[in-house]
Order: sequence, then structure tokens, then C-alpha cells
Amino acid sequence: MNFSIKKICCIGAGYVGGPTMAVFANHCPNIKITVVDINQKRIQAWKSNDPAEFPIFEPQLDELVLNCRDKNLFFTTNLEKSISEADMIFISVNTPTKTKGVGAGKASDLKWVEASARQIAKFSNSHTIVVEKSTLPVKTAETIKKILSGSQENNSGKTEKSFSVLSNPEFLSEGNAINDLENPDRVLIGGDDEKAIDALSEIYSNWVPKNKILKTNIWSSELSKLTANAFLAQRISSINSISALCESTGADINQVKKAIGMDTRIGEKFLSAGPGFGGSCFQKDILNLVYLSSFYQLEEVANYWQGVIDINNWQKSRISRLVVNYLFGNVSEKKIAILGFAFKANTNDTRQSPSINICRDLLEEGAHLSIFDPKVENSKIKDDLQNDLNKIEVVQENGSWEIASSVLDAANGSDAIILLTEWDQFLNIEWNELIKLMRKPAWVFDTRSCIDFKSARKAGFNVWTIGNAPFFNE
Ligand code: UDX
Ligand code: ADP
Repeated sequence: MNFSIKKICCIGAGYVGGPTMAVFANHCPNIKITVVDINQKRIQAWKSNDPAEFPIFEPQLDELVLNCRDKNLFFTTNLEKSISEADMIFISVNTPTKTKGVGAGKASDLKWVEASARQIAKFSNSHTIVVEKSTLPVKTAETIKKILSGSQENNSGKTEKSFSVLSNPEFLSEGNAINDLENPDRVLIGGDDEKAIDALSEIYSNWVPKNKILKTNIWSSELSKLTANAFLAQRISSINSISALCESTGADINQVKKAIGMDTRIGEKFLSAGPGFGGSCFQKDILNLVYLSSFYQLEEVANYWQGVIDINNWQKSRISRLVVNYLFGNVSEKKIAILGFAFKANTNDTRQSPSINICRDLLEEGAHLSIFDPKVENSKIKDDLQNDLNKIEVVQENGSWEIASSVLDAANGSDAIILLTEWDQFLNIEWNELIKLMRKPAWVFDTRSCIDFKSARKAGFNVWTIGNAPFFNE
């Protein structure tokens, strides 16, 4: 018997669950999709009539949600009802790196996945396909299976319930999520229940060509996700390590990037030097690989991947150090404009954003930061700067920070501008105007190599762009 999926429940209405289900709903008008979350505020925000109030910013998402909401796409906090009526349940909850206990700093915290599995075990009624969508360590499906197999009876204790567990990792890149979902390079479905795999594959085949739907065993699927992200992150650490060498030698990172990217074996993508990778996946996935390798006593493998993280941390701290050095070794009580707080452009997400580390370093040095980001909420910036990973308030001895309302506001009276996120609106800054507002010598530090550096130089700025020797005007 083939399962025909009529009702889907997605647990977790975040950066993964929201966009993924919006795309599913648009392509599958006959499937009722319910996105459920314990966070009432978040669900309320998804129901807002004003898309600007949606909890996440993602280009093109508004349109998709408005098109299907209350037709075949619903947002709710009613977990019991959504689970009990679903044929297929996606787990899209957060899985951050553990901050304490066994595996702290390395292993993923699976408490939300475990809670979801327990809720599914409790409320489901018949045969249910459970799909892991969150970024997870290898062998999580086994944990989910064990929890689910502990429950055999439905709420009324009559019929037996049963489960098939699949791994269907997300490969969406924030800011480009809708395109990634609409035109994926591949869809990966891991599992051992062929009927369940076919049921999920059928859903995707509404818009994804069949040859792009890859079926694997469950461990391959889970490990492929971690490996894909580790390889991508490795490219960034590689190019970032070379950016430092360019700055010392007089080579230009963009010329090197072009020269190596034209080698078709290397390719041109993911070769942009920057302030270090951020986002919810890269660091977490590599740490998972490191943890897994150590668990299997493969220390060389663990050390190899740890190196990618080490370079990333070094890149962030070397940027804050060089800013201080160029500002005569002292930023105490100087105003510094921070342009961009999100971990990349086109998202309001700040998870693992290099801006957090760089701002904290400068605050420790006593700087006064004026921070402008076009999409990140003020409360998020506050949370990121005031709390450390364990949510303990960090006392800033001397430094202070404020939210600026525009680029001009941030730059007014400052000694330096540090560009940390490559937002479009930063590409065409009127440097001639900006310099009039600043203390001299005025510096611009472009960690994304994206500004019109010639205009900035001409306007009178000292300019540092990543992967290039600094330019002094005076
Ligand atoms: C990533 C994966 O790309 C995606 O497939 C999914 O598995 C989740 O994780 P995401 O974190 O949203 O997506 O963004 P991505 O575009 O991969 O960027 C990650 C970080 O790397 C950002 O901080 C970005 O600025 C940085 N980056 C990216 C660079 O520094 N240089 C590059 O060339 C590309
Ligand atoms: P991701 O980037 O993986 O989507 P987010 O943090 O944006 O991560 O979203 C995860 C969502 O999952 C959050 O909105 C959180 O409230 C929700 N969540 C976590 N645990 C549960 C649970 N047990 N039941 C329902 N929702 C949950």
C-alpha cells in the first residue's frame, strides 16, 4: 500500500520550518499543512496581516505565505491536534550547540528534538512518517526511533500506532531560502522504509525533477548534511587564511579568488573572504563532526575539522585587533560605526554572526559602538551583546553601544566605520558626504570587500579592505 499524504504537521516555525512549509503549501494545494510552535509570540507573528511583522525576514517569503495562509497553510500552537491528525510530521526545531554538561561546546543540544519526538509518540494516532529536518548529529534518527517505539497505543488505547523515520536534511541558505527550496541542487531522503521514502519523494516531485531526488540510507543522509556544510565552511576558512597572507604580501585577494575560481575543479562559488562564517549551521555541524570523530577515536580527523573552526575564530579576532592597531592602539572612548549585524545580507538572523565577536572585542577595549543593521531587531542586538553563551550578563568595563537609525547616524562623529555585513545599501555609500561627519583621520574597514573603495579613498578615508594592503590617505 502506498501512503498518500493528506495532512502534514511541521514542528518548529523558524528559519527552516517557516520557508520550507510555505514552499510545500504553494506546490501542494491538496495537502493541509500545519506549522506548530510552542512560542506563541512567533505563531502570532506568522498570522499577522502585515508581512513586515513575520518573525523572519526572507526575500519572497511574504508572497508565498500570504498566498496559502488559511487555505492549506496554518500556524498554530495546538500541538496535540496538529500531531494527531497528521500523516507526516517534520521536526524543524532548533538544535544549538550544547553550552553545558557532557559534550558542551561540541555536541548538539537535542532536548528540543527529544521533546518533539515524545510529543509525537504521545499524540499521534495511526501510522505516521516522521521526517527529521533540523540539522542533527549522525544517528539522531535512531534516538527518535527509540523514543517513538516506546509508544505503541493511541490516546484511547485502541489501535496500534506505528512510525517510519526519515532523514531529509535542509540545504537552504538564508537570504536565498526560497530559491534553494524551489530549485534545489538535490533533495536528500534517507531511510529504510521504501514506502515512506516514496511518499515524501512524491511530495517533492510536484516541483523537483525526479533525478534530483536522492535516496540513501539514513546514516549517509545525516552524514552528507554535516559533510556538505563542513566542505563549504572549509572553503571559507581556506580563503580567509589566504586573505591575511594577501594583506602582508601585497597580493589582492579578489585577484587570487578569480584566478583560482576559474579552475573548474575549484569553481568560483564560496570563495569570498570575509569576517568569518556565521549562521546557525556551519560551526554547529563541524563541531558535530569533530565530536563524532573523537567518539570513534579518530583524533586526526577531529583535529583536521577543528582547524576550520580555529581559523574562523582567528579571523574574527584578528579583525578586531587590527582595527585597534590602526586606530593608534587605542579605541577607548572613540566612536566606531558598525554597519551590519546579521551574519550575512538578506537575513535578520544573527546566530553566530562574526559581528557579535568583533563588537564584543571592541567593547572590551572601551570603544563606543554605534550599530546599524537594516533588518535585525534592536532586542536581538541587545541580547547578543549583553549575554554570553550561557546567558550570563557580560559586564562591559568601559565600552558602550547604541543602535543607530541609519548609516549617517552611525557615522556621525565617529573615528572609523567597520562594515561587517554586505547589505546592498552599503555598496553605494556617498563617502564624500560621510567623511564630513567624521573625526580625522577617518577610517573605513571593509571586512566584505564590497564597498566602492576608490571613492572612499578619494573622499579622504584611510581604507582597509579584507585581503588587501591598507591604504593611507595622510
Ligand atoms: C548554510 C548552507 O549554505 C546551507 O546549505 C544550509 O545547510 C545551512 O547552512 P547559511 O548558514 O544560511 O546556509 O548561509 P551561507 O550562505 O552558507 O553562509 C554562511 C556564512 O558563510 C555567512 O556568514 C557568510 O557570510 C559566509 N560566507 C559565505 C563567506 O564568508 N564567504 C563566502 O564565499 C560564502
Ligand atoms: P531553525 O533555524 O532550525 O529553524 P529556529 O530557532 O529559527 O531554528 O526555529 C526553531 C523553532 O522551533 C523555534 O521557533 C522554537 O520555538 C520551536 N520549538 C522548539 N522546540 C519545540 C517543541 N518541542 N514544540 C514546538 N516547537 C518547538
